[in-house]
Amino acid sequence: MSTKLEQAVDSRRTFAIISHPDAGKTTITEQLLLFGGAIRQAGTVKGKKTGNFAKSDWMEIEKQRGISVTSSVMQFDYDDKRVNILDTPGHEDFSEDTYRTLMAVDAAVMVVDTAKGIEAQTKKLFQVCRMRGIPIFTFMNKLDRDGREPLDLLAELEEVLEIESYPMNWPIGMGKGLEGLYDVYHKRVELHRPEKYGEERFIPLNDEGDIPADHPLHQDNVYTQAMEDVELLTEAGNEFSEEKIASGKLTPVFFGSALTNFGVQTFLETFLQFAPKPSEHKTMAEETVSPYEEEFSGFVFKIQANMNPAHRDRIAFIRVCSGTFERGMDVTLERTGKKFKLSNSTQFMADSRETVEEAVAGDIIGLYDTGNYQIGDTIYSGKMKVAYEELPQFTPELFMKVTAKNVMKQKSFHKGMEQLVQEGAIQLYKTILTEDYIIGAVGQLQFEVFQHRMLNEYNTEVILTPMGTKTARWIDPEDLDERMSSSRNILVKDRFDQPLFLFENRFAMNWFADKYPDVELKALL
Ligand code: G4P
Repeated sequence: MSTKLEQAVDSRRTFAIISHPDAGKTTITEQLLLFGGAIRQAGTVKGKKTGNFAKSDWMEIEKQRGISVTSSVMQFDYDDKRVNILDTPGHEDFSEDTYRTLMAVDAAVMVVDTAKGIEAQTKKLFQVCRMRGIPIFTFMNKLDRDGREPLDLLAELEEVLEIESYPMNWPIGMGKGLEGLYDVYHKRVELHRPEKYGEERFIPLNDEGDIPADHPLHQDNVYTQAMEDVELLTEAGNEFSEEKIASGKLTPVFFGSALTNFGVQTFLETFLQFAPKPSEHKTMAEETVSPYEEEFSGFVFKIQANMNPAHRDRIAFIRVCSGTFERGMDVTLERTGKKFKLSNSTQFMADSRETVEEAVAGDIIGLYDTGNYQIGDTIYSGKMKVAYEELPQFTPELFMKVTAKNVMKQKSFHKGMEQLVQEGAIQLYKTILTEDYIIGAVGQLQFEVFQHRMLNEYNTEVILTPMGTKTARWIDPEDLDERMSSSRNILVKDRFDQPLFLFENRFAMNWFADKYPDVELKALL
């Protein structure tokens, strides 16, 4: 008999949905929330057009631009599972927060637009998921529109992302000619418009893997085509392997249309069947902590400030890794050894924030923070004394020089810089010779958020001078020679005093590598 905690942990499914903007992440999220009964009406999560901003668009900038800067967490129950979806910013200007959110999930769902295939942002996010070795499920969206050939899409997925794929179902037609899905996994055909045939939604396949010969769809060209494709894939494609799915080596592929809610429920149910439950987490000491461990522990993967401009509060997002969190419990912050009572906690929904009383491993909680937490911090109850692995840093690609507009504000400028850097909002570098401040980000929006927060929270107007895109590469301090620096490769140090070059472009980097073959250039993730 498993314990209450074990049962609760085993029911958790915690994942993120990743995609390039406009592939349909928001639409599918809404459909999932509808199935889970978490919202009653589509359009609740995003209300761009109506001006009804979702509550997850907390910050003013988000409102001005109608985008969601920060990730929120949505929870619902489906069947006997408790589902936690971690949202990731859906704009091109995504930030390090998006990457960090992927450190807190057990699986990812990759939404692809069938007309566009694998796009740039999907690729980047996918790589972070792969680095973690988590299972990745693919939803090929917008089947109600004419898109690319399904076989092409699969080939591109395998080639560009270097992952094996296994189609769980296969489109029968597309766009206006969409008739259904040949569900390889459940051995049935799911009709797009069952009313057209006056039938149930599902037609079971016979032993030959076919629908009855007298079914009108049987004579349809799109059905014949789908059958041919499936046959080809059965002979030449990958084999289904639960093991490979679990280790992120094979992605199960589902086709469907989020907008018309076709194939979404099948996807959800099959996904929940194969998505992993919370597993153990690695510690700094290279040990692991079981989610069933009775003591509570978790790590901070994101800190969000100013969710409520009236209170200027910060919220630290914690992934619970073990045990049960209870409101009001005493915990220790590992980095400082300081003890706290966790009385102010929240759980998140797209349209409300509720106080959470209890959460178990796999869940995400938000803690009100008065400046105690840093990204990557571990908290634990009792005598656990655990420190979870550090979160990776991501190589920024965009850089700006930064100065305080008013020289009299140096003190608050430095304080703001220090806190925002610690919080992980932005990365800070200093030129080696002149100690000029340069900030780096993975998305443009991080700069805007930084500028906004410096003004609103630290009362400091900052001047940002764009330096454009750079390729950042770290070097061994022993290789450091200031004469190596030039305008095309600026030598700076990071906040841990580690030296790195900001190369103007790849050519400049290659030129440097040729000139100094003994200097090893290292990237973060
Ligand atoms: P994102 O979060 O990944 O950025 O994408 P989002 O869901 O906002 O979808 C982007 C656009 O694609 C939306 O249209 C949405 O209605 C449409 N879309 C999503 N799924 C499907 C689908 O299965 N089929 C079709 N045909 N369209 C789909 P929009 O007009 O830009 O959105 P909105 O401004 O009306 O919200």
